[in-house]
Amino acid sequence: MLLTKQSLTVFVLLLVQLIGTFAQGILPSGWENIKLTRELDLQHTFTVESFQLTIKNIADKPLKQYFIPIPKQLRDQLSTITASLSKNTDALLNCYVSDTLNTLEDGTVLSYGVVELPTPLQPGKEIDIVARIFYNIAGIPYPSKIKIGEVQQLYFSTNRLPLSPYSTLEGRLLVKTKSDVKEDNKPEDQFLQGTFNDDTNTLEFGPWYDIKPYTVSNVDLIYKHVPALKEVINLQRDIWVAHWASTIQFEEYYELTNKGVGLTDGFSRLEFMKRSQLAQFGMIPWIHILEMSLPEQATEHFCTDKVGMVSTTDVVGDTFYIKPRFPIFGGWFYNFTIGWTNPLNQFLQRYENDDETFLLTVPILNGPQDTVYDNVNVTIYLPEGAELLDAGSPVSYKSISTAHEHSYFDMKEGHVKLTFEFKNLFTDIGKADLLVKYRYSKAALYKKPLSIAAYFFSALMGFFVIRSLNLSINN
Ligand SMILES: *[C@@H]1O[C@H](CO)[C@@H](O)[C@H](O)[C@H]1NC(C)=O
Ligand SMILES: *[C@@H]1O[C@H](CO)[C@@H](O)[C@H](O)[C@H]1NC(C)=O
Repeated sequence: MLLTKQSLTVFVLLLVQLIGTFAQGILPSGWENIKLTRELDLQHTFTVESFQLTIKNIADKPLKQYFIPIPKQLRDQLSTITASLSKNTDALLNCYVSDTLNTLEDGTVLSYGVVELPTPLQPGKEIDIVARIFYNIAGIPYPSKIKIGEVQQLYFSTNRLPLSPYSTLEGRLLVKTKSDVKEDNKPEDQFLQGTFNDDTNTLEFGPWYDIKPYTVSNVDLIYKHVPALKEVINLQRDIWVAHWASTIQFEEYYELTNKGVGLTDGFSRLEFMKRSQLAQFGMIPWIHILEMSLPEQATEHFCTDKVGMVSTTDVVGDTFYIKPRFPIFGGWFYNFTIGWTNPLNQFLQRYENDDETFLLTVPILNGPQDTVYDNVNVTIYLPEGAELLDAGSPVSYKSISTAHEHSYFDMKEGHVKLTFEFKNLFTDIGKADLLVKYRYSKAALYKKPLSIAAYFFSALMGFFVIRSLNLSINN
């Protein structure tokens, strides 16, 4: 495969930099929200907060940065921020998290996501933008335990009116869940209440007019949510690149839990058997089957856990189905390892007129649908003798590090080991590719079998030397 311009544009697409460049204490001002619609999507194991904004520069100087509040307690759960101009959703805007913390009168502490316009907007002008904030959170099971056969409900609290640092002329809140959603502690004031729109399956609030900056007001939501809430606490994903065998091998260790509802009466086998029929249709909030979506053409699948090889697996197309040894109810864990192999040329591209420089593009994740990941390490092992030239991730990472790792037949410096450390990922973000550019000369390719031969040769020599020494002693 040759590297084309198109494949290069793919990785700039998701570019998000979560770095704070703001000095402490600078507070946002200068904008007015002409229209602010906030949509909260609670249909997944993660939460998506979308803002559709028409904003106006009411300052006396051009403005470039627009601030969106992020409650401090959610900052550690932040996954990513994306934004674009409404007119041109392909043109992604630069987004990051500000260092600024702001304590409001009632004690609420806010941090901010910052959306940067491509060019500063002149005073008096308006612009439309769309911003999305992804959080590694879901509603909390309510009640926290149920009997088998009861339906899981989740509870979610958030701000009702816009919490924006700017005044808002017209504001709305929309809440989307998998099934209908009710409000707990409904306020008397009808003006504040929401109405459920059956057509769009959305709880709609507002429009509200002339809302002051930093209006703190709470809304508590209760909604049915049938599927389990899959959470991978830790994932270690290892990727071995072998030019010699023309393969790429994946091995992943998962520490998985269900952060959904627990069981009141413990686990009754009989009751479970009766209901497990339903589970096959995804109707029950426990993890019964894991559907791992693997790259096309994967072979040599395996799955092990601490008991040993898991035999209840199946491969259908690109999906590797794993049936854990027990159903994973709320609060239970299942730790397991899976692995598979793919042809190397599926992920490796060569540069034109250069047969020693390669670009490896591998997806960040290959796990089950609708899953959140708290800590993920992706480690890529390049062949021995490869020289790492560059590496990048379209998704912000906590750290990136390189080291050398010796495997059995490595004679010299060993494999180059490159580790990306991520926090707060979720299934959809895993489709993005990591990029690794490296040089691997023909000489290095042939060095490996040669060094194996040399190893056997010197081992053999050593054996003879010892033998001859022994002989000489015996003599
Ligand atoms: C990832 O690597 C870091 C740094 O080596 C380590 O502290 C952390 O425990 C690792 N996390 C996982 C999930 O393996
Ligand atoms: C499985 O993973 C969890 C979460 O990290 C951990 O607390 C537990 O000790 C692990 N269990 C085993 C048997 O390794």
